[in-house]
Amino acid sequence: MEPLSVSFTTPTAEKTRELGAALGRLLHPGDFVALLGDLGAGKTEFARGMAEGCGVPPEEVASPTFALIHRYQGRLRLVHADLFRLSGEDDLYGTGYYDVRDAEQAAVVVEWADRVPSAVPEDALRIHFDAGPGEMERRLTATPTGPVSARRLQQWARDVAPLAVPAPG
Ligand SMILES: Nc1ncnc2c1ncn2[C@@H]1O[C@H](COP(=O)(O)OP(=O)(O)OP(=O)(O)O)[C@@H](O)[C@H]1O
Ligand SMILES: [Mg+2]
Repeated sequence: MEPLSVSFTTPTAEKTRELGAALGRLLHPGDFVALLGDLGAGKTEFARGMAEGCGVPPEEVASPTFALIHRYQGRLRLVHADLFRLSGEDDLYGTGYYDVRDAEQAAVVVEWADRVPSAVPEDALRIHFDAGPGEMERRLTATPTGPVSARRLQQWARDVAPLAVPAPG
């Protein structure tokens, strides 16, 4: 069966964070969310929202850091990684990412996840961010690649239905 995509548009960064928060409230340990799309598309805004939705104190998420991997503790542990600066799998091994991803009872959100294909497990919720059409608008298209992510998308889409738009294609 083809995975069913769901699209949303958000008119502001705040709405993008709200979408992320709604997903964060549903996350279970072991969930994996891959954030894809160009520089400035809104991936970090969304990840911030996810952390808030997980119950992570906002000041913790807002604090600037240059670490590749952030670990937040809310009602569950949330791992947030950004692979933009990586050149490949060897780089990523060196960071301990795979241990953190597989050994900890955490939900995981990764920006630029496609930089290293093996960073993404088989069952992941892939969310693609596109800019426009308006200057502040973003379109998010979420596609599940397995049963767990499909279930999560279904729950999330129900909770944020007012922001849904028809999926492209
Ligand atoms: N609707 C919107 N949703 C999200 N961000 C928006 C929106 N409108 C404007 N913005 C602005 O766009 C920028 C998005 O930046 P953000 O860091 O989230 O992008 P990113 O995808 O993580 O980029 P990078 O690939 O560099 O990590 C922010 O400055 C934000 O305020
Ligand atoms: Mg970012």
